[in-house]
Amino acid sequence: MEKLKIAIGCDHGGFDLKQKVIDYLKARDIEFEDFGIYIKEASDYPEIAKQVSAEIAKGKFDKGILICGTGIGMSIVANKFKGIRAALCCDTYSARVSRAHNNANILCLGARVVGEYLALDIVDTWLKTNFEGGRHKKRIDMIE
Ligand code: RB5
Repeated sequence: MEKLKIAIGCDHGGFDLKQKVIDYLKARDIEFEDFGIYIKEASDYPEIAKQVSAEIAKGKFDKGILICGTGIGMSIVANKFKGIRAALCCDTYSARVSRAHNNANILCLGARVVGEYLALDIVDTWLKTNFEGGRHKKRIDMIE
């Protein structure tokens, strides 16, 4: 896996899964910064999605992981930022192809949709898959 710096964030719906993903990152010595929330209480996903997306758009981090109940709110907000390609993935095939074809730079997860073990497989697949470039590069340029 290339050396990465990850920005991670969640709302209350994604709080427990975020702790599991952080454990995964720590166990593999992957550098990350946690943008909250830090205690499990009702919170607004747009705030966290905004912070993480802005940091990645500025180039401060390579990739991001955003977790809410469904992953939908996080992905809607993240994709409003120029240069952000956020992919909501509920399976490993989508996770792989979101990197290989779409060069996704934020992974969104729905903690109320996927179980912990599947979510960690999705994270593992997503982080290990590189962008293929080639014909896909042209399409990414078209988005930009
Ligand atoms: C919070 O209840 C829930 O709406 C949020 O986590 C997320 O699913 C939004 O998309």
